[in-house]
Amino acid sequence: MIERIETLQNEGGAAIAAALDPAALEELRVAYLGRKSELTTILRGIAELPPEERGAVGAVANHARQELEGLLATRAAELEAAELEARLAEDAVDLTLPGTPPVAIGHLHLVSATRREIEDIFVGLGYRVLEGPEVEHDLYNFTALNHPPGHPARLVQDSFYVDPTTLPEGALNERRLPPGPRDVLFRTHTSPMQVRAMEAGPPPIFVIVPGTVFRRDTIDATHLPMFHQVEGLAVADGISMADLAGTLQEVARALFGPERETRLKPDFFPFTEPSVQVDVSCFACQGSGSLSGGRRDPLCKGTGWIEILGAGMVDPNVFEFVAGYGYDPARTQGFAFGMGIERIAMLRHRIPDLRLFFENDVRFLEQWR
Ligand code: PHE
Repeated sequence: MIERIETLQNEGGAAIAAALDPAALEELRVAYLGRKSELTTILRGIAELPPEERGAVGAVANHARQELEGLLATRAAELEAAELEARLAEDAVDLTLPGTPPVAIGHLHLVSATRREIEDIFVGLGYRVLEGPEVEHDLYNFTALNHPPGHPARLVQDSFYVDPTTLPEGALNERRLPPGPRDVLFRTHTSPMQVRAMEAGPPPIFVIVPGTVFRRDTIDATHLPMFHQVEGLAVADGISMADLAGTLQEVARALFGPERETRLKPDFFPFTEPSVQVDVSCFACQGSGSLSGGRRDPLCKGTGWIEILGAGMVDPNVFEFVAGYGYDPARTQGFAFGMGIERIAMLRHRIPDLRLFFENDVRFLEQWR
């Protein structure tokens, strides 16, 4: 029996030393030391042995059990260490490799990108960029811009009025009048900044004013109650309509391509005289009005021209309003213009619907990174 115990001990010891993972080790523990194992059976049966054998068998069997238990513990520790070693090797980080950005980097909205492009063009021509309040006085939005008292643009159906008593202190940066009822509104155009810019200093003045404007329009593919404009104002000695035409031609070419021609058509704005509409020759059909195969060009509706902005020579009545700031209405000359940022972007990128700009579907926005 002693021989058998020694065989079990040797066999078990060898198997334990060769075990490759904790599961195999556990199987060996059950096989050699478990309740139904041969060694356990022997140990349990010692009391039934003849008295003279009990001592020797008991000693050898207990020794064998202790040995095997020791070997199991040692092997378990070895396997654990090896496993840790392997995991560390696998997880090793090479700190010299460049990092990968976890998420895509954002980008400017197309309206912002277009606005910046327009700003760059004008800064290149020597203009300064100004901003102004989005909540305005009737005085700046209409009166100073030569809108007579009953002008339809003032109607509540066309403009968003604000209760001035709900505005925070100083929100309107008062210069002339405290607000009264119906005197405060969301600006309907960026033109009030023509007046504010002239109040800030005498000519010469060359400024553009990008910003948000608001009108009570019903929503469709070309109208929203909120959109963006860039206003322009140039006042200096001897400024003429030729300067207006030359400047806007330069801008049209910077925006739509060096081959573009421009034309001025009579228009009307209360604050410019004469007023013009500026058209650019169509960049889809090169001004011919038809596409290959004689098809009518849908972009310019077959006319070869696309309207891009409103402009004109500053009306003397506007200078009259700022006469006290160095603008003699009898002598001062200048031109002003206003363009829609979304309109420019829609034309350049053939975007069919204004609403796409503000629904903020990333599949749309991502196309203009
Ligand atoms: N303010 C005018 C508009 O909103 C545009 C314009 C600006 C026209 C300056 C002439 C001069 O339609």
